[in-house]
Amino acid sequence: MSNTSKKRYTITSALPYANGPLHIGHLAGAYIPGDIFVRFLRLNNKDVVYVCGSDEHGAAITIRAKKEGITPREIIDKYNKQIKESFEEFGISFDIYHRTSEPIHHQLSQEFFLNLYEKGEFVEKFSEQYYDEEYNQFLADRYIVGTCPNCKSEGAYGDQCEKCGTSLSPTDLINPVSTLSGKTPILRKTKHWYLPLDKYQPWLEQWLINEKKDVLKSNVFGQCQSWLKSGLHPRSMTRDLDWGVDVPLAEAEGKKLYVWLDAPIGYISATKQWALDTGKNWEDYWKKQEDPADDSCLIHFIGKDNIVFHCIIFPAILHAHGEYILPENVPANEFLNLEGDKLSTSRNHAVWLHEYLEEFPGKQDELRYVLTSILPETSDAEFTWKDFQARINNELVAILGNFVNRVMVLSHKYFDGKILMGSPLNEVDTTVFAELAKAPAGIEASIQQYRFREAMAQFIQVARIGNKYLADEEPWKVIKNDEERVKTVLFVAAQIVANLAVLAQPFLPKSATKLFEMLNLPATDWAQAGLADMLTDGHQLGEVQLLFEKVTDEQVAFQLEKLEVSKASNIAANAKVDPIKENITFDDFVKMDIRVGTIIEAEKVAKTKKLLKLTIDTGLDKRTVVSGIAEFFKPEEIVGKQVSILVNLEPREIKGIQSQGMILMAEDADGRLDFVNPNTSVKAGSTIR
Ligand code: MF3
Ligand code: ZN
Repeated sequence: MSNTSKKRYTITSALPYANGPLHIGHLAGAYIPGDIFVRFLRLNNKDVVYVCGSDEHGAAITIRAKKEGITPREIIDKYNKQIKESFEEFGISFDIYHRTSEPIHHQLSQEFFLNLYEKGEFVEKFSEQYYDEEYNQFLADRYIVGTCPNCKSEGAYGDQCEKCGTSLSPTDLINPVSTLSGKTPILRKTKHWYLPLDKYQPWLEQWLINEKKDVLKSNVFGQCQSWLKSGLHPRSMTRDLDWGVDVPLAEAEGKKLYVWLDAPIGYISATKQWALDTGKNWEDYWKKQEDPADDSCLIHFIGKDNIVFHCIIFPAILHAHGEYILPENVPANEFLNLEGDKLSTSRNHAVWLHEYLEEFPGKQDELRYVLTSILPETSDAEFTWKDFQARINNELVAILGNFVNRVMVLSHKYFDGKILMGSPLNEVDTTVFAELAKAPAGIEASIQQYRFREAMAQFIQVARIGNKYLADEEPWKVIKNDEERVKTVLFVAAQIVANLAVLAQPFLPKSATKLFEMLNLPATDWAQAGLADMLTDGHQLGEVQLLFEKVTDEQVAFQLEKLEVSKASNIAANAKVDPIKENITFDDFVKMDIRVGTIIEAEKVAKTKKLLKLTIDTGLDKRTVVSGIAEFFKPEEIVGKQVSILVNLEPREIKGIQSQGMILMAEDADGRLDFVNPNTSVKAGSTIR
């Protein structure tokens, strides 16, 4: 009986990198689910803090700055502002939207690092790291790309493959390339501080596999299990970079904290700032309490590419520190695709929130509705504009909007907007009330299991009940001979509208507000949902307002056209040809002795992927040429083929073979090669000029 403390909740949504605008994939991954959950908790009068902010460090920022030709500071200021505005527009109801560039965050991150350092948790190691000689920079994380050793897809980053989610080190990459110079990097020695994840593995197994097995969503649990199965390795928590939080050690001058060390600490520093602003105690929301039953319930909403950081690395850091609570759950979503293709910032294949807001002004709830209906909760999902139109027109407009509108209009028309109890309730009415009473518990159960699609479907089901009730009772006909019955029908229908107003609040905040205004009722908390007497006999309704409008075919066509245009401009950009070189003199030209040759033998060069050893009849002699065409041609395909060959190129040794000359190939922007050969058979040795 003595425990009067209220359960606390610490809810986070992933800190987006302040390196570009937000698109629908962001909303569907971490923000709509987090916001629905938090709004639901608040409606139930829970003590909750919902934190987020911009992730303003790491290569994601500096690379973007380089691309736009402005400083990292300018990049984060620009995108932090834009991102923050988009969140506000869509009603993502953070208690604070913070920034990791704030001093309070730098301080806390350094404190964390020093805490672990002083406990001797880090392993200090000199190692050979990739280095770009042209840019005088070590290449970690997004500064280096290559082929993923796990799924073999191209373009995996130095810290992670975004295709398969595997966490990587630069030295794991196959064919690593610097994203700065585009060149193959060299190795150079440097010192770093590693978090010994291998040491924490038994603890992580106990926590994740034993304790969290039935708590985590299966997509999240599966990923955790597979990392643990493949064995954890020490991971460097410092970087040779010039943008980020300084490593607080004299001997580490010029080094920065790894962005994935400081970013999740951003959740804590954001809470600290919020507590300062509101007179709260931040430790209540983050630190272990005397009685574990009083610990705050920490939940991270993220997208699937962030699972390893929130389920393994950050918990290991919190555990090593010792004073902090661990996440209760990490309900990560899978990815959202768009019109059959992956969302992509670089290919501009996206629906940008700031553009949506211009093209569909005031239609934030419509997008929230559609995205909630298709959230990638258990597997990747797909957004299409046709489906967007169908869901809005057939569900929001035809069911919810239509029902509310009919109740409002008829009440005003027949009874001057007064809700009146007429003849006694009949069986149909009480059945409707019974169904209404069941709805909140069902929605609640789904929200608590992070099944927001299902929760939304149950919400719209309540509007369906209302629509059917009106269609069956036909008050517009009954009014001709039984006004008392019509009063009661509209009384019942208006109670359904009032329930919809309460239930809409977690999902469609703007519409919920409108509904309460129309009902002339103050917004109420969740406990009111399911009740049949939210509106009393004689209650005066407010004015009719428009809730939703149909999406037109033209609007859909416009959006599809926009995506086509960016697809086309990508193709054009990819088809780019090399710029023309400087002029040469005729004398320069005639120095080159180019002949027609015939390939008479071809074989793969052992232990290489690209090289073929060719024997070529040049009409002058038979010579060996090593050529990098093995990815495109099989040896047996090209024997007998005529080629153009530069015969007076200085011989070179390639993989221990003397290569005498070079065959001329055409190479397109994707690096595809083809022969430059005569149209008809020409005598070997003929000169090309
Ligand atoms: N900025 C990261 C991303 O966009 C997410 C950071 S989440 C946090 O993938 F844990 F670091 F906060
Ligand atoms: Zn991969």
